Order: sequence, then C-alpha cells, then structure tokens
Amino acid sequence: MAEHIHPIFDQLVQRAEREARLQQRSKVLWLTGLSGSGKSTIAKALERQLFAEGFFPQVLDGDNIRSGINGNLSFSEADRVENIRRIAEVSKLYLHSGIICINSFISPMQAMRDQARDIVGADDFLEIYINAPIEVCEARDVKGLYQKARAGLIKGFTGIDDPYEAPQKPALEIRTDQMSIEASAAQILSFILPMISMEDV
Ligand code: ADX
Repeated sequence: MAEHIHPIFDQLVQRAEREARLQQRSKVLWLTGLSGSGKSTIAKALERQLFAEGFFPQVLDGDNIRSGINGNLSFSEADRVENIRRIAEVSKLYLHSGIICINSFISPMQAMRDQARDIVGADDFLEIYINAPIEVCEARDVKGLYQKARAGLIKGFTGIDDPYEAPQKPALEIRTDQMSIEASAAQILSFILPMISMEDV
C-alpha cells in the first residue's frame, strides 16, 4: 500500500448493514468470453431480471467502461491487465456497497481473472464462462469487428490474432450456441439465487 495513505473503510457504514438495507447478499459475477459470445446481452437480461425480482444489480460492461474511466487504455496485453485491475477495484467498491455487480469483459487471460478474483476476494467472485465457438461469434459479428480484424483494420483482436484462454475452472459455463439468451440468463439466475438471497431459497 502507498505511503502516507490512511484508508477509512472500517469507519464507514459496513457492507452487512448495506446488504441488510438492500435485502440481498452482494457478489461479483464475472462474465468472460469472446467478443460476440453474448456476455453483454446476457448481462443486460440478467440485470433486468434481478431488478424485476427486487434485487439491486449493476452491470459493468467493456464498451461502457472503455468509453469512460478506462478511456485511456488500449488493447495491448499490459493495458488489458490494467483494464481488468481497475474494473476489479471498482467491483470491490460495488461489492462493499451491497450491490450485485455483473461484469461483462472479455478478460482474455486466466492470470487477469485470477488477479480480479484476488482483488475482489474469492468468496464473492463467480467466474462465469460465456462460451460460443469462435466460428459462431465471428458469424454473428454483431459489431462488424471480426470482419475488420480479418481485413487487418483492427490488430490484436481477441480470437483472431490475440489469445483467449478459456477458464480452467469456471463456477458456471453457458453455451450460448446451444441456448437462448433467456435460458442463459435463467440458468445463471437459478445458480446465483441461493448466494444472493437473504432468506434460504
Ligand atoms: S478486455 O480484453 O480488456 O477484457 P473489454 O471487454 O474491455 O476487453 O473490451 C472488449 C470490447 O472492445 C469488444 O467487445 C469490442 O467491442 C472492443 N474491441 C476493440 N478492439 C478490440 C480488440 N483488439 N480485441 C477485443 N475487443 C476489442
């Protein structure tokens, strides 16, 4: 920790008090997967579903974060590491605010996700692999970025000329080439419900 810095975390309203107010247990749901795998769409659907059921979730999404707090970062490996580190720190702040944080970032390397888990704390961190084969993601090409990457207009595009390491031991894996968005969100919801509910479900 930096010198001459005196955090006051312990003097603030505590996480348990905030969770009691919000009637939920906070967690960080970490969705990882290729561009076009369905992370953002699932995150949005899940956020909406949780909110409708009385929970208080917040999505953090790659394109949003990179247009704001991380607007100064590129897609080099070092900047991706820094991107994920900052997001993990922000997620930790949300966690301590009692919020269910739904993160949607490629986070391509296992080491980045492990660092995020260390920052957040293993007990509160759920790695969820949003998995669709690269051919499927490329065929979807929702943002037209695969086409640009193939044409050489984007260098270092994940899955094309930059690596993606699949999670070794995700808490949950969702195959979006075999399941609808609704079913994917529903599967995540039923998986997390016992962990975020105040009462036993
Ligand atoms: S991460 O690798 O650092 O975790 P992040 O999730 O924040 O990536 O951002 C990914 C989004 O940035 C993609 O959905 C895509 O829209 C955009 N993007 C732009 N350039 C690249 C690239 N070279 N590789 C991957 N995604 C890119």
